[in-house]
Amino acid sequence: MPQATPDVSDLRARLDSIGQGHLLRFVDELTDDQRSGLLAQIAGLDLEKLPALIGAYVTSKPDLAPTGDLAPAPLYAADGTVGGGGTWDRAEAYAAGEAIIKAGKVACFTVAGGQGSRLGIDGPKGKYPGGAVTGAPLFKIFADGVLASRKRFGADIPWYIMTSPINHDETVAFFEEHAYFGLPKNDVIFFSQGVMPSFGMRSGKVLLSDQHTVATNPDGHGGSLKALYTSGAIDDMKKRGIEQISYFQVDNPLVRAVDPVFIGLHTTAPHSSGQMSTKVVRKTDPEEKVGVLALAGGKMTAIEYSDLPEDLANELAPDDTLAYSAGNIAIHAISVAFVEQLNTSAGGFALPFHRAEKKIPCLDPASGEPVDPVEPNGIKLETFVFDAIPLAERSLVLETLRVEEFAPIKNAQGNDSPESSRMLQTERAARWLRACGVKVPLRKDGAPDCTLEITPLTALDPEDLKHAQLPEKIEPGAKMAF
Ligand code: UTP
Repeated sequence: MPQATPDVSDLRARLDSIGQGHLLRFVDELTDDQRSGLLAQIAGLDLEKLPALIGAYVTSKPDLAPTGDLAPAPLYAADGTVGGGGTWDRAEAYAAGEAIIKAGKVACFTVAGGQGSRLGIDGPKGKYPGGAVTGAPLFKIFADGVLASRKRFGADIPWYIMTSPINHDETVAFFEEHAYFGLPKNDVIFFSQGVMPSFGMRSGKVLLSDQHTVATNPDGHGGSLKALYTSGAIDDMKKRGIEQISYFQVDNPLVRAVDPVFIGLHTTAPHSSGQMSTKVVRKTDPEEKVGVLALAGGKMTAIEYSDLPEDLANELAPDDTLAYSAGNIAIHAISVAFVEQLNTSAGGFALPFHRAEKKIPCLDPASGEPVDPVEPNGIKLETFVFDAIPLAERSLVLETLRVEEFAPIKNAQGNDSPESSRMLQTERAARWLRACGVKVPLRKDGAPDCTLEITPLTALDPEDLKHAQLPEKIEPGAKMAF
């Protein structure tokens, strides 16, 4: 029998002193295993810092709006111009990126620790059948992108995947079941992100999900920059000679697993310090709920749509497009050295927390009774990866075309849903096929009258399609995968 009693009384005193004594309310009723599990969880909380954290983020709403004058981001535009003056050369950028990838210095990295609650699925989102025609799981689509890139560049491109404690085992099992989708097992590396305790919205108390379990939530995609380091992934990258990370989310089947143009600009362009760069798409509707990249006090910063003042959101550039149009699509190039620096700088890893009001099933901190809330009752704290952008010396922003690289699956219906993603995947495939002379039927509204999917194994870009067997035309209503 573990000698837990002295520790419990010591812990009880510490918890009581910070108003969190309820966490041990049931300790005497627990089995040994349950008790040691609970004590370990509580020991993992940073009790010293908890009151300040709760004061700053839970019981008050911090203003995280950027400070300093705002100005539009100098954009490396898709047409080869650079905002603020100058031009950039796509072929030169490609060559620079290609050289680094061929030298085996680039890894892919997918953040897949989210809960996918808006899509309403259980388990890892990467298992979701995202392929427009094939219904291929998102993880397979990315694996195909990594495989095709390894082949094209003749390089080992390891793929790191961040899970959360909630979906880690199921994610690894999925890859095992599918023999790593043809990738070498040693080059697919999983690690789990950290968690934060969940809090009562009004009480500020750490919630228990049952009598022996602290309620927790994954600590946000910003947690990836911490977990890359604490998990040993950064050490592993250094051993493999990796210098740059191609970062993308688990929900975008059109993402290029590694883009030589982006990596090339990120590592060589004068606007970049090679630490953290971002791909954006043009925002055309001021109301669109997407964050934008802009200069805040002279520093490149990602600004949430709710933090962009209305007059600036509507401001027009001289060419009548939106001045603040650099819509963040969460595709980044990040250097290994930058992640290391974020974790080893004085004061430690410190991205701000964002608070989200959520419905969290728990035990009521006052009565100890189970609560299944119908209204938000709790607070989840998360950090966001884009908050690291202003910590880079200079950060580059590259425009890409929405139809080419952005078809996220986030919601069950409407915008950013499986249906909208299918349409965008079809539209991109139609563009690429038309460029090869294939006739694609159109509906009255100009959208393709068919469903199309091109796997990265067939083509990473339109030029690759020239080597594929293609039909002369596609019949209306057809569903075709290439
Ligand atoms: P989202 O912001 O879409 O969150 O994540 P989510 O948790 O997946 O979905 P909802 O809000 O519950 O519907 C964007 C990306 O960041 C990852 C997700 O897996 C996705 O790739 N993410 C998010 C993490 O890896 N960890 C987190 O804690 C949160």
